[in-house]
Amino acid sequence: MIRYLTSGESHGKALVGIVEGVPAGLSLSSEYINHQLWRRQQGYGRGGRMRIETDTIEILSGVRFGKTLGSPIALMIQNRDWKNWENKMAVEGDGVGIERITVPRPGHADFVGAAKYGFHDLRDVIERASARETSMRVACCTIARKILEECGIFIGSYVLAIGPVEVKNKAKIEKLIAKLANRPSSTAQTLALQADKSEVRILDASVERKAIAEIKKAKKAGDTLGGIFELIVTGVPIGLGTYVQFDRKLDGQLAQALMSIQAIKGVEIGDGFANARKFGSQVHDEFILKNGEIIRSSNRAGGLEGSITNGEILVLRAAMKPIATLAKPLRSVDLKTGKIVESRYERSDVCAVPAASVIGEAVIAPVLANAFLEKYGGDSMGEVKKSFRR
Ligand SMILES: Cc1cc2nc3c(=O)[nH]c(=O)nc-3n(C[C@H](O)[C@H](O)[C@H](O)COP(=O)(O)O)c2cc1C
Repeated sequence: MIRYLTSGESHGKALVGIVEGVPAGLSLSSEYINHQLWRRQQGYGRGGRMRIETDTIEILSGVRFGKTLGSPIALMIQNRDWKNWENKMAVEGDGVGIERITVPRPGHADFVGAAKYGFHDLRDVIERASARETSMRVACCTIARKILEECGIFIGSYVLAIGPVEVKNKAKIEKLIAKLANRPSSTAQTLALQADKSEVRILDASVERKAIAEIKKAKKAGDTLGGIFELIVTGVPIGLGTYVQFDRKLDGQLAQALMSIQAIKGVEIGDGFANARKFGSQVHDEFILKNGEIIRSSNRAGGLEGSITNGEILVLRAAMKPIATLAKPLRSVDLKTGKIVESRYERSDVCAVPAASVIGEAVIAPVLANAFLEKYGGDSMGEVKKSFRR
């Protein structure tokens, strides 16, 4: 099974990751991973850091002549801004003379992190709680994504809402999916590439314009925005996942992966929340016959029944709260003086929903790859593909 760990502070020397359980013989290049890292850094409303750094991966081990060896894969992303942080983030020394951060931002991990770990400088929290960590997560997960893609399973995403601006009529997107669904399994990728052309990853041009205007408005007001993105996975075979034990349930594992992204506060499978407001007769996807084949009349379940994929397109949604660092600060308490003060501001995103959607694509990949390998696994990609074809 694939498992991975990341390490690294936001302004530390580098982010590192280790991925284990990848079959031998998977074609893998830095270029393939870098493309996903680049996608994570895009989006209207990002802060200054995205301009400072272009993340690039260094594959340190586990790959030879472009193919995985079956051994653990070690990855590294250098923080290009490190030269400006060497003193503040030094591994050695006592930190004397380094300014402490003592005003926690509401909505961030600052206060609870310090309370939990007994820190007197909130930087000790911020550096790891920050979503900078997701850069390495995307890199690690992209390896699992490659396994899926080699087996014809593709993941894509697009943004459905930025703050109050939302795609109300999903008919256009559904039409697009229906049109593409007859094509090879790469429909999800095609849609994601189309979404990538939009600065906010919204597939409807009129909503896109309004969303950009809303982000501009928030920025001008010193405020921030969240939103909702949708993930689709195409080419998913029937029978991945299981209902037999709670911790092996695929819907639970997918939700966990998405909820682990910073600022994600809600996850939906299929039309989860809308379905809750309807009668069963309006919700459940009937079985019908087409050319002798059993298919479904609709896909409101989002491709999962009983925690097992049912052969339909997998559809997941995630809600992101507005960014916690506000240029027009909220009230806070200075932990050094005990006085009410304005919350601290440092270079920050106004809206990061487009980036979060790319991270969402990444984090579900190892979950799906593990469900896939559980059924069709092997020591090499040759074995995996043979088993899948059979
Ligand atoms: C792609 C991405 C970028 C983010 N950028 C920022 C940011 O610039 N400033 C900020 O305060 N929070 C940002 N966040 C959210 C914080 O990391 C998050 O709110 C914080 O770590 C607390 O975790 P929680 O919201 O899950 O409770 C970002 C999240 C993501 C996914």
